[in-house]
Amino acid sequence: MAEFTKDDLMFRPGLMKGQRILITGGGTGLGKVMAEACLMLGADVVIWGRRGGVVEATAEELMAAHPDGGRCTGMACDIRVPEAIHDAMDQVWAGGTLTGLVNNAAGNFISRTEDLSPRAFDAIANIVFRGSFFVTLDAGKRWLAEGRHASVVSILTTWVWHGGPFTVPSAMSKAGLNVMTQSLAVEWGGRGVRFNAIAPGPFPTEGAWARLNPGGGVGADGEKPDPTIPLGRNGEMRELANLAVYLLDPGSAYVNGQTIAIDGGSHLQGGGGFSRLASWGDAEWEAARNAIKSTNEKDRAQRTV
Ligand code: HXC
Ligand code: NAP
Repeated sequence: MAEFTKDDLMFRPGLMKGQRILITGGGTGLGKVMAEACLMLGADVVIWGRRGGVVEATAEELMAAHPDGGRCTGMACDIRVPEAIHDAMDQVWAGGTLTGLVNNAAGNFISRTEDLSPRAFDAIANIVFRGSFFVTLDAGKRWLAEGRHASVVSILTTWVWHGGPFTVPSAMSKAGLNVMTQSLAVEWGGRGVRFNAIAPGPFPTEGAWARLNPGGGVGADGEKPDPTIPLGRNGEMRELANLAVYLLDPGSAYVNGQTIAIDGGSHLQGGGGFSRLASWGDAEWEAARNAIKSTNEKDRAQRTV
């Protein structure tokens, strides 16, 4: 089902006319949401996924929901295979030079790290770490050869800053893409290709929840927000879509090499070590103040003796 009406996005209609955006993993979840936003704003959008039927159905669904928007094309492409990327990119380029790329495709599951086999590690890293790099490299070479400007946005997680226990192959791979973002922002920025990333907190999707919250799934209970999120809720799809459009559009042309968290402040939760105090009320603060006061008074009394 399509997600947005025109009132959900903060940009003027037609903002992305003339832009051509590739979104990997655009057939489902957050990739689909970002594809819809770009399409609604007039962009020509290409979405990739391993399941050709899924990306084609999504493209049709989005175009039917937004007849005044741009175009959306679904193409089967497995980003674990560099040759498949190259062939699919030839087809994309035949329809026009890309102005933007969203590295969104991913694989993940929770597991104790000691239970992982080499194949289990590769199942994640070959999509997220290697696959996203190969897509970026293939598009990047074309932009540099043509002297074209482009914006690359990679979808990471906040684990790039504080680690991801029980999701180590994903956290390691996303951290690699974070460094790719910073490195290529400098190496290619002067030649017109800029790099930024988004680190989302929880935005419930079928794909992520089935693998990270097994048995919980997406649904009333499965979407219950983590009580430690400072804003007290999960992210809304339109909030993520607005940030992605901002970073893709030339309106943000001076933003380069940044990874922006969109997580209600969650990743800062441990900051200073006192975040648990957010649950205290007046009584607890009064008791704490009195206890500290009494300690200070005792200390003062000893100093004046
Ligand atoms: C331990 C596991 C495992 C598990 C699979 N393996 N699941 N090991 N615990 N839960 C092992 C298998 O035993 C096998 O190793 C190896 O991994 C490959 O398994 P396959 O099933 O053959 O893998 P494959 O078919 O390639 O599937 C890839 C996948 C799958 C990543 C495992 O889940 C997938 O296609 N996912 C795509 C969509 C997705 O994951 N979306 C979620 C993104 S959410 P052996 O040695 O036994 O052969 C996200 C972050 C969200 O990224 C952050 C939220 C805050
Ligand atoms: P999702 O719906 O499972 O999306 C993953 C997509 O990647 C699928 O469309 C999948 O399609 C595609 N994909 C996987 N392997 C691929 C491959 N080898 N080649 C091409 N496409 C491939 O999950 P999601 O929640 O929307 O996640 C989207 C992105 O957001 C991911 O990068 C994830 O790490 C990130 N993220 C999500 C959350 C969240 O709360 N949802 C939070 C933080 C970060 P096929 O299976 O058809 O290939």
